[in-house]
Amino acid sequence: MSVTRPHDGIGTRSAYEEQGWCAAPWGLEPELLASVRSRVEAISRTVRPEVVYEEDSDTVRALHGCHRYDEVCAALVRHPGVVRLAEELVGGPVYLYQFKVNIKGPREGREWPWHQDFAFWAYEDGMPEPHAVNIAVNLDAVHPANGPLTVLSGSHRLGLVGDGEQGAAGDDWRAHVSARLTHTVSEEAARALAVEHPPRQILGGAGAVTAFHPSIVHASSNNTSDDRRAVLFLTYNAVSNAPAHPDRPAFLVERDTTPVRAAWGTG
Ligand code: SIN
Ligand code: MN
Repeated sequence: MSVTRPHDGIGTRSAYEEQGWCAAPWGLEPELLASVRSRVEAISRTVRPEVVYEEDSDTVRALHGCHRYDEVCAALVRHPGVVRLAEELVGGPVYLYQFKVNIKGPREGREWPWHQDFAFWAYEDGMPEPHAVNIAVNLDAVHPANGPLTVLSGSHRLGLVGDGEQGAAGDDWRAHVSARLTHTVSEEAARALAVEHPPRQILGGAGAVTAFHPSIVHASSNNTSDDRRAVLFLTYNAVSNAPAHPDRPAFLVERDTTPVRAAWGTG
């Protein structure tokens, strides 16, 4: 499997259109990164439905919708570099659809099976088109052993490749955020796709920023290292592409479709 560093010089819309992912040629400012990390650590210690744990464990797996109750996280959503990147890749004004932080604890963080995010958004929420983008911000250094995101480069051009709606979990939104995911792409199908769509690990230092397409097939493995792997994901959706039946909790599917206005700071 070949490995790509996030600052290899790809970062353009054409790279995104071709590969279904691209790295920003800049990183998050160190002060902002430190504030976000410290907020994520504080939120992880709170007990609320938005905080999800690994199965049968008190290890935090994910936080959701932090922008709804935390000012630093809300400021990150308006970060001018992030907003510009999202607008450029989606091709127009965007609103924040989903905010999550996936934390893979040392030795305990579990995998994410192969899947396409758009399968969840289309089947569960009624998102009309994959006119959205994920912006991933590394809160920790991501290396091959701490469970990096792996994408099948170019697979976004295939549309939805899974088994359709059969896997729909109904009201059980936890099946959309656990290691036993609904709407997966089978191992066998992913192996076949990988022949033409080479797997790429998204590696990089803390603060590195990468964008990936809603339809790209992706997965990540268990964290087998002593290092935490926390990655924050901001999903921006085109203002014209609001979902038809956003029934899942608002901390998973933001209802406010007001276009994000870029701004610095928490003011
Ligand atoms: C995702 O598939 O949305 C995230 C996977 C990961 O955190 O590695
Ligand atoms: Mn995903």
